[in-house]
Amino acid sequence: MTSHIRFDSAANALVLLDQRKLPLREEFLACSTSEDVIRAIRTMAVRGAPAIGVAAAWGCFMAANELRDCADWQNELQKRYAEIGAARPTAVNLAWAVNRMAEIANSPAQRPPLAELHSEAARIQTEDIEICKAIGANGAPLIQDGDTVLTHCNAGSLATAGYGTALGVIRAAAAEGKKIKVIADETRPLLQGARLTAWELHKEGIPVAIACDNACALLLGKGMVNLIITGADRIAANGDTANKIGTCGAAIIASHFRIPFYIAAPLSTIDLKAETGAEIPVEERSQEEVLEFAGARIAPEGVRALNFAFDITPAPLISGIVTEAAILRPPYEAAIRKAMRQAAHG
Ligand code: MRU
Repeated sequence: MTSHIRFDSAANALVLLDQRKLPLREEFLACSTSEDVIRAIRTMAVRGAPAIGVAAAWGCFMAANELRDCADWQNELQKRYAEIGAARPTAVNLAWAVNRMAEIANSPAQRPPLAELHSEAARIQTEDIEICKAIGANGAPLIQDGDTVLTHCNAGSLATAGYGTALGVIRAAAAEGKKIKVIADETRPLLQGARLTAWELHKEGIPVAIACDNACALLLGKGMVNLIITGADRIAANGDTANKIGTCGAAIIASHFRIPFYIAAPLSTIDLKAETGAEIPVEERSQEEVLEFAGARIAPEGVRALNFAFDITPAPLISGIVTEAAILRPPYEAAIRKAMRQAAHG
């Protein structure tokens, strides 16, 4: 498929496959300004932690380009980078990508270093695909021929620069010739599982069935699932993991039925500044996402909704965290710090 996220240098625009329209329509959205990129991230035309990191990196390049003739470009750019970094609060890859771009932008020159910023955004994008492939290769042995794997939300190509994290592991196992079935939780309220995970896997010929989010206990109790694997938006230093609302429930059910529960994520999703999950900010989105379905009101007028977009799965419920470096195993504190140290020293 054409890349779902691509910078068009001729048009000076970030072109995104509009994920709000999938699977019914495959429409591309051209973001011509850094403000457009912020809007695309907030409204989830692009979503998934690594993908919003990549979009943000291009937004940072575009912001610098917009300020190329501004005498006070350093201060103005800093303000713009703060806005891009705040577009969504939970996925740490967003701040991580903005920080990488800010380091390049940190120059006393009269004009922003546009060529270097362009190269850095392109590097963040291409590196992400390589990282996802390494995650896939490391995680593939967890899946046996004939297994049924349950996943929540969408941690696939669409949520990254390509290939995916949790779906990357499934893709890599399928590429080894293993016959795998996938159950995609529908993932209320925005249905990333039913709309996006099912779309990706079905296109690729990997058998996928959609289940209601609340079917998890029944499916595991009946022995219909061998393994659960999901992505992550932020992982604390102790291994507590933020991911799409409903992930923690699935992990608790998996623990009850003794089914392995794995997280797949790049090391850039680990936030050592958050010691535990309690320090991870959980995004609250508009009530309408819950109170309406496909634009039509489904709840009584006057009733409010709680719309936390993520939850925190406590580290003891996680069997392993599949990264590009290795599968990290408990105790996570030590495994995470070791992997981060090794990555920092190349
Ligand atoms: O609100 P979303 O759709 O951005 O949430 C996405 C998820 O929860 C994903 O599982 C996570 O970002 C990992 S994507 C590789």
